[in-house]
Amino acid sequence: METRSQWGTRAGFILAAVGSAVGLGNIWRFPATAFENGGGAFFIPYLFALLTAGIPILIMEFTMGHKYRGSAPLTFKKMNKKTEFIGWWAVLVAFVISTYYSVIIAWAMSYSVFSFNLNWGSDTEAFLFNDYLNLTVEPGQTGGFELGVLIPLLLVWAVVLGVLFKGVKKGIEVANRIFIPALVIVFLIIVIRALTLPGAIDGLEAFFAPDFSQILSPDVWVAAYGQIFFSLSIAFAIMITYSSYLPKKSDITNNAFIVGFGNSSFELLAGIGVFAALGFMAGQVGVGVDEVVAGGVGLAFVVFPEIINQFPGLNGLFGFLFFASLVLAGLSSLISICETYIAGLVDKFKISRTKAVALGGGLSALISLLFATQGGLFFLDAADYFINQFGVAFVGLVEVVLIAWVLRKVNDLKSHANGLSDIRLGSWWTISLAGITPLVLGYMMFGLFKQNLLREFGTDTGNYENYSNAFILWGGWAVAIGALVIGILMSMTKWKASSAEEQETLSKEAK
Ligand code: ALA
Repeated sequence: METRSQWGTRAGFILAAVGSAVGLGNIWRFPATAFENGGGAFFIPYLFALLTAGIPILIMEFTMGHKYRGSAPLTFKKMNKKTEFIGWWAVLVAFVISTYYSVIIAWAMSYSVFSFNLNWGSDTEAFLFNDYLNLTVEPGQTGGFELGVLIPLLLVWAVVLGVLFKGVKKGIEVANRIFIPALVIVFLIIVIRALTLPGAIDGLEAFFAPDFSQILSPDVWVAAYGQIFFSLSIAFAIMITYSSYLPKKSDITNNAFIVGFGNSSFELLAGIGVFAALGFMAGQVGVGVDEVVAGGVGLAFVVFPEIINQFPGLNGLFGFLFFASLVLAGLSSLISICETYIAGLVDKFKISRTKAVALGGGLSALISLLFATQGGLFFLDAADYFINQFGVAFVGLVEVVLIAWVLRKVNDLKSHANGLSDIRLGSWWTISLAGITPLVLGYMMFGLFKQNLLREFGTDTGNYENYSNAFILWGGWAVAIGALVIGILMSMTKWKASSAEEQETLSKEAK
């Protein structure tokens, strides 16, 4: 009897996968990353990473989830008993990301409310750090809770866990059917408005102007690969989990291309919208576009409020739409991030979905409270940097090397995908997975370890963001290494036999 949860329709699966991919990474990470790494020239490493790592790994993860019909730990266990720990490692990386990703959505929620009265005033930077986050402690100290962050954070968890409680078809699929069309409409309104602002063209010129001088720098390639992995939600267990809910007869490769190109199109659209708005703002203030560019927290919560202040009309409405789009994009991604450990717990311990959501989601919500304290931003920044570099990218490297060179599964997976898909996989796929990606990622990881270890123990100038050694050790290294160690420990626990309760939950959902 088929008891695993299933998507209701192909469109439902694609929307959920696109919903996972399109997230904060597209809107607040991509535009500034592209600009800082060569503008128009960045598209070369970006497209290279997309076509030789992003889409090939996405196809690989879709095929794995579909073929082995399991969460990441179960899928890896079925491939080879000894590799279960990699599934858990990826799940633990996702777990860490969910603890802080939820907090950024909470900030966006607060700011969508602040938009109506432009509560941030004229000094948006002072408002963010002094009034809203109240960042008055040293990195590594927590200080008290910030209610302005805590309350929306609880709301974020209520929505996400509520959706997850309802299951794959009735919860995740339905939520994405609402969130994704809403996001596209809201975002298009913002981009069209941004493009019609005076100065927009200067912003676009700055964004697309190619600077080839940096193209050979390893940092640019690290940025491109990092962006592709985070943005496509690959190498953190998500796409394996989502494709494990596909019906037996499902296209794999075509779906992966739709998701991959859909995500990059949204990313490009975000870059265009953000830079058109930055061009407008630079014109208003009378400075060059390069002087107003920021990434991450600075872009969304300092520069955008300033842009909204300068807007020629309907300021409150456009502010609300921008922050609402961050909330929508973020929620659909956070749902997928949490589903990785919920599926892992259900598969391994045969507990009901409800229990898994309460346990896994509850624990993540509890830990996320750390980031809702006065010192939360520092913890968030360190965890984000380390878990992306030594979590996502490292899992990606281990995953491809293992599958291509140790388990030698590439041909197996290829024939599985080809047996189901319209598009047939050829040597491009094999060469990308077995050759190009391990080489480039291996080189990249070597450089990253060297750089960060030198910073920590060597003579190099200062740590990441000049944080103290102790803070980097606990807030960064311990988080990234902890994901691996706990992953190994999880893989050593015993598999429980299927319980009647689980069967009941699943069959209820299948109806
Ligand atoms: N793929 C998600 C994002 O881009 C995690 O934010």
